[in-house]
Amino acid sequence: MKRAVCPGSFDPITFGHLDIIKRASAHFDHVVIAVLENRTKSSLFSVPERIEMIRECVKDLPNVSVDSWSGLLVDYCKSNDITTIVKGLRAVTDFDYELQMAQLNLQASGVETMLMATAPTYSFLSSSIVKELAHYGGDVSSMIPANVNTAIKLRVGGK
Ligand code: PNS
Repeated sequence: MKRAVCPGSFDPITFGHLDIIKRASAHFDHVVIAVLENRTKSSLFSVPERIEMIRECVKDLPNVSVDSWSGLLVDYCKSNDITTIVKGLRAVTDFDYELQMAQLNLQASGVETMLMATAPTYSFLSSSIVKELAHYGGDVSSMIPANVNTAIKLRVGGK
């Protein structure tokens, strides 16, 4: 059984993330969306809130589950029988960092990384951009699912 992980902060999840997750789910028996518990990074949503939102977004994908982890990603992969990390590549600006991480993770543990080209519609999209737009009352409904849009409106209050 081939198991992959789509890791990230997902604060919050966007249509860009979901596009990668859906496409990855067509190539693996199981895909785990792993939400990083990052105590050093301030977040808009708590990890349990993010997990709940993501579960709602992927409820129609039977081979996708949601989890959280802290520490090294490759340790999470080893403990959960995951052979492959799948990440989206939006633009060349993502490339240096992702290549470094992929090479490090391969050398450290043998876990493979597959970098999937983001659909052009989402190449500009990031959770940070969504949060900034929402903070100033911008319309982010084309960038995030409806349940996430509702949650972000309640959280930032369109300020
Ligand atoms: O959504 P993000 O914030 O861009 O996700 C980044 C993430 C979580 C994928 C990245 O920070 C990560 O893989 N962290 C795991 C920690 C790790 O294994 N680091 C290895 C290099 S020191």
